[in-house]
Amino acid sequence: MTAPTMKGWGLTRSFGSGETKTYALRNVSLDLQPGQLTLLMGPSGSGKSTLLAVLSGLLHPDSGNVHILDRDLWAMSEREREAFRLEHFGFIFQGYNLFASLTAREQMEMILRWGSGTPAGEARDKTTEMLGMLGLAKKGDLRPLQLSGGEKQRVAIGRALIKQPGFVFADEPTSALDWKHGQHVIELLRAAAHDQGSTILVVAHDSRIVPFCDRVLHLDDGILFEGLEKPADLYAENPVQTGY
Ligand SMILES: Nc1ncnc2c1ncn2[C@@H]1O[C@H](COP(=O)(O)OP(=O)(O)O)[C@@H](O)[C@H]1O
Ligand SMILES: [Mg+2]
Repeated sequence: MTAPTMKGWGLTRSFGSGETKTYALRNVSLDLQPGQLTLLMGPSGSGKSTLLAVLSGLLHPDSGNVHILDRDLWAMSEREREAFRLEHFGFIFQGYNLFASLTAREQMEMILRWGSGTPAGEARDKTTEMLGMLGLAKKGDLRPLQLSGGEKQRVAIGRALIKQPGFVFADEPTSALDWKHGQHVIELLRAAAHDQGSTILVVAHDSRIVPFCDRVLHLDDGILFEGLEKPADLYAENPVQTGY
């Protein structure tokens, strides 16, 4: 197996204090490999979005470390981290975070033009190709208000993938899509991992996605497990110590 490009360990994050204090992450450690599509599953409120935010530099952990490409993410200055995120990360958030005033095409072209200084003609061509891959060839000139939920979701996905980032964090990218489009999105993410060597972490609920992924992780109440479910012995009355 290739060396991990992302490594997190001892990650803990809580919210609130006193009686209302909740732990969203409890001592989570994980390695992510380049070229792999990793699926993160778990019940609502189990800490999935918090884990993505902590790994991607959006939310400071209470304790623990994240190393990416041998850089210590949380030791960087805010400015360095911002620049690092812009250079290496693509995000697909829950909700689409699209600019209301921009067309589908402009949302993507902007990333190439202003994010990585791509010349206008090349940005246009790449965007046309991406719109086609997403089944949005005829929708390029429409603004978010004129697009359906599923179409907006696909624009958000195109925007995250168009600069071919080394890392993609996708928080429920298929939740607004029917299975046909959801499967297509997972195939695009899988291609980004397998063809471009990107490291991809995707949160999703639909277990039909599992066969498309290289690896499955499971979060339960802030505790991370490898695989689809908690190990059965952790449900037992006297759980075996597993080292988690
Ligand atoms: N900004 C916040 N303020 C207070 N509590 C939060 C905040 N974000 C998340 N939480 C809590 O942390 C836990 C995990 O949330 P989250 O990571 O969003 O879970 P998931 O994405 O798996 O649904 C939940 O109990 C949630 O209420
Ligand atoms: Mg969430």
